[in-house]
Amino acid sequence: MNALILVGSPKGRVSASWMLGSRLAEGLRDHGVTVQYGMVHHELRSGEGTAKLLDLFDSSDLVVLAFPLYVDSLPAPLTRLLELAAERRGRTSAPGNPRLAVVVQCGFPEAHQCDTAIGICRRFAGSAGMGWAGALAMGMGGSLEGDFRRLPGGGKQILDALGKTAEALARGGDIPDEAKAVFARPLMPRWLYILTGNLGWRLKMRKNKARRPIGDRPYAQG
Ligand SMILES: Cc1cc2nc3c(=O)[nH]c(=O)nc-3n(C[C@H](O)[C@H](O)[C@H](O)COP(=O)(O)O)c2cc1C
Repeated sequence: MNALILVGSPKGRVSASWMLGSRLAEGLRDHGVTVQYGMVHHELRSGEGTAKLLDLFDSSDLVVLAFPLYVDSLPAPLTRLLELAAERRGRTSAPGNPRLAVVVQCGFPEAHQCDTAIGICRRFAGSAGMGWAGALAMGMGGSLEGDFRRLPGGGKQILDALGKTAEALARGGDIPDEAKAVFARPLMPRWLYILTGNLGWRLKMRKNKARRPIGDRPYAQG
């Protein structure tokens, strides 16, 4: 089986999307799947990169979209790539192939914020004649930085969910409901996430010498 992991964050390999997508890729490889990556924002900047990703898309049995939630939806370059991939699908494309799976995370604490984006991907798969293998979604994406071991509980729940997902996808199945439920479980109490998130913003402001109050809207009309 050939799998393509499309990383939809402009932060590339320092993103939460990469952290999750690359760990899923490791699990797929452990089950004999050949995995390639596509860094969507980077590749779509050139015609050559776009053509490369579209060719990989067409020759894959499984495409995994690993992306951050942007305004309840997908980052624009990822949407663009899906539009281009759909345009290329003709009568010769095998129905149900490739299968599409999603790993999405967002900045708000609740995993259900990702439901609209998942719905978009599922409908895309249906209308493009691809298979739909399901989605993993989690909130509190802001706490995913670098190393799973720094997460509460050593990130065990995420690693377990990704492991079960890799196993199921590698044998041609869908993402198990159990993995979805474990992945969606909050990593920490909501109040703690908000507290550390606010502290993080203040530290970033200081580091970047941003002195204005963070609520300022200098370009807002009226
Ligand atoms: C332009 C933009 C729009 C966003 N929209 C949402 C949103 O609608 N809901 C949400 O919960 N988080 C939103 N976020 C937060 C990201 O989903 C979150 O920071 C995520 O963890 C980033 O993942 P990454 O490291 O893979 O880029 C948004 C972030 C940006 C930059």
